[in-house]
Amino acid sequence: MAVPDRVLTNVELTTMVDTSEEWILQRTGIAERRIAGEGETTFSLSLQAARNALEVADADPARLDLIVVATVTPDYVFPATACLLQDVLGAESAAAFDLSAGCSGFVYGMSLAADLIAAGKYRLALVIGAETLSRITDYTDRTTCILFGDGAGAVVLRASDVPGGVLSSRLGADGSGGELLMLPGGGSMHPATSETVTRRLHFIQMQGRQVFRFATRVMPEAAKQVLDQAALQVEDVSLFVPHQANDRILQAAARGLGIPEERMYSNLARYGNTSSASIPIALCEAVEQGRIKRDDLIVCVGFGAGLTWAAAAVRWTMPLPVPGPSRTMTFRRSLRYRWSRLRSLWRRLWRRIDARLFQVLYDSHGRRKRRGRNDE
Ligand code: ACO
Repeated sequence: MAVPDRVLTNVELTTMVDTSEEWILQRTGIAERRIAGEGETTFSLSLQAARNALEVADADPARLDLIVVATVTPDYVFPATACLLQDVLGAESAAAFDLSAGCSGFVYGMSLAADLIAAGKYRLALVIGAETLSRITDYTDRTTCILFGDGAGAVVLRASDVPGGVLSSRLGADGSGGELLMLPGGGSMHPATSETVTRRLHFIQMQGRQVFRFATRVMPEAAKQVLDQAALQVEDVSLFVPHQANDRILQAAARGLGIPEERMYSNLARYGNTSSASIPIALCEAVEQGRIKRDDLIVCVGFGAGLTWAAAAVRWTMPLPVPGPSRTMTFRRSLRYRWSRLRSLWRRLWRRIDARLFQVLYDSHGRRKRRGRNDE
């Protein structure tokens, strides 16, 4: 995982909008959130998280078959953030794309990658959930700005003969609720103009109460569905790792599942809602804190813009505590990162030279230019 250093506290928010520390804490469970600094972007946070994940998995980026970045705040509409990563990681043989499924994006990506691996198509996949929601948050709107934060989390999925990993998953959508949570500006409906900026269309708009009701219904439902699919019971689950949106949503989901709140992982107090990043960040922390042990069954469950929802039942087969990375692979990765940087620079330079040469040698129809009168 990777989060920015800058902390935005509830006290600071009280100087920006008409709210109070108590209101935010009591109604959401959030005490602070991380905010990207200048120069920090979804890509830079993704890169940090991706490198950390590759180190933990002791995997060679050159062997990656797939890179998926789940995000609603990519660096650009295109190229995909995943492609920027593919370049700097030196993942020469990886397919790379971004996935937009709101806060359910990470579980969508993980499920997709797991299915492609199970089908025998790929062997090694990197799935990242990363956001810089602060860039699309309206800090004059007290109903949204108290909720969101920035960060990234990443997992590596690897083909294995050991039974386990993603046992079942359920992805869902209900587009009729699309307008409950949206970023209206910047797409083909409202392309960026000075008017869209004045109307604040480039910020998140949300009907919180309705999203809240949707979340409390769909979270326990989706979690139970994936357990049914895998012929497992709620009691078999060691830890639920839910999308971190609001502590009251987590409490309602725990009640819906008939489990004590302690079995529902929460780090809302420290990071707020980081959309697609929230589940992988929670997963990473849960592992580091020893809340997940080898062969534990965990359920990741999320909901978000779309509206979408997603759940996955996962048997944690990775050895814990995670053995340190091997020296050889660490050396290979550091070489790979340096080499990719050089290779990328060279490719950019060569593209310019190539374009110049083409201009000199060929006409606008792509036909080779004649050398000169004497050669005719
Ligand atoms: N400080 C003080 N008062 C506030 C604040 C605030 N920051 N925000 C709203 N209020 C007021 C409202 O104006 C309202 O006042 P009124 O009764 O005079 O009209 C009152 O508090 C209650 O408002 P509600 O909207 O009913 O508050 P609620 O308890 O529902 O909490 C919240 C609002 C926190 C937004 C909640 O609805 C929520 O968490 N919803 C889900 C949001 C969510 O999960 N989004 C997922 C995003 S996923 C993705 O894809 C990005």
